[in-house]
Amino acid sequence: MKSILITGGAGFIGSHTIRQFVRRYPDYHIVNLDKLTYAGNLENLKDVEDAPNYEFVKGDIYDAAFLKELFEKYRFDGVIHLAAESHVDRSISDPNEFIKTNVVGTVNLLNVAKDQWQGDFEGKLFYHISTDEVYGSLEEGGYFTEETPYDPRSPYSASKASSDHMVRAYYNTYKLPVVISNCSNNYGPHQFPEKLIPLFINNIRNNKELPVYGKGENVRDWLYVEDHAKAIDLIYHRGRIGETYNIGGDNEWRNIDLIRKLCEIMDHKLGRMAGSSAELITYVKDRAGHDLRYAIDCSKLKNELGWSQEVTFAEGLERTVDWYLENEEWLNHVLTGEYEEYYRKQYVER
Ligand code: NAD
Ligand code: TYD
Repeated sequence: MKSILITGGAGFIGSHTIRQFVRRYPDYHIVNLDKLTYAGNLENLKDVEDAPNYEFVKGDIYDAAFLKELFEKYRFDGVIHLAAESHVDRSISDPNEFIKTNVVGTVNLLNVAKDQWQGDFEGKLFYHISTDEVYGSLEEGGYFTEETPYDPRSPYSASKASSDHMVRAYYNTYKLPVVISNCSNNYGPHQFPEKLIPLFINNIRNNKELPVYGKGENVRDWLYVEDHAKAIDLIYHRGRIGETYNIGGDNEWRNIDLIRKLCEIMDHKLGRMAGSSAELITYVKDRAGHDLRYAIDCSKLKNELGWSQEVTFAEGLERTVDWYLENEEWLNHVLTGEYEEYYRKQYVER
């Protein structure tokens, strides 16, 4: 039986990855290590929490002594590392947590994997999940490929870039078997309502203003989260050691066009008059250092491993809106306390 550690499994992408692995691999023992920060939520995993091949452990990847005990207990064959501070706006107001978790936490994990696996890397793998934001910001033309030089511009992307560099350094220096993927913006059920799509769904639902940064002309490439989880499964099992794979949606949208589309869908779902949600659009001060455009060339993953996106944007957005409208209880639970304070600081007092 293989023993696999998935970090950050109570978060958005982590929970979809856990679900994918728990269901597909009954012969793996899957340990979900998560600190349960504001973004971590065990309600995301209700449908798999009793599975015999799944176990949750609460803990912090910043705590090296704790990680050592965990590895000694479970003797992991593989690590899929998703735990991170993941929101650009929070990284602008408080970069330090991003260094602690994304940089030091990743190095702690690399150290413990190297020490535990020392001399016997056969069948072992450290898979690091990263973002396309490490490549910087594009103008109108061009795409990020695996060869694009790193040019991170926010504290978040700089912390992820640092962690990517450390993962590659452990491959080169210690021959630690690693693989890295860099993915574009994800959307789907269970995403914390601080990121664009769930935040705006929630605000439309509550007839609250829709705060569009700057002119709304920034472009993102959107991928349905389950398609990302499938790519992670494929790369974990078939990716070449030492390689990097870009993952993307081939689905670029200007923020304002995406927001208008979301407003249309929500008007329809909520039985509101056409055009009424769009009246909530409010242009606010731009994000500091706001990257203009991200766009991913994911042909390597497609050609080498046969991956492709399965969920169209129309289908994915509809599924996402339906999920949030049907899961008010989930939303109400995550919208208390810390969230209210964050919202006030980010949008009311800024
Ligand atoms: P998320 O914020 O929803 O979840 C992060 C999880 O990590 C949470 O469950 C949190 O409790 C946990 N965590 C945070 N600090 C921890 C610590 N010190 N120790 C243990 N657990 C800790 O993030 P997400 O959107 O699911 O992103 C997951 C990964 O994918 C991140 O590494 C992120 O950089 C990367 N990524 C995200 C996107 C995206 O669009 N969301 C795109 C590309 C890559
Ligand atoms: P976000 O979901 O935070 O992802 P990222 O910054 O990692 O791409 O933001 C997506 C885009 O939406 C980005 O260009 C910033 C913009 N945005 C707004 O205009 N208003 C908001 O309230 C938020 C959260 C984001």
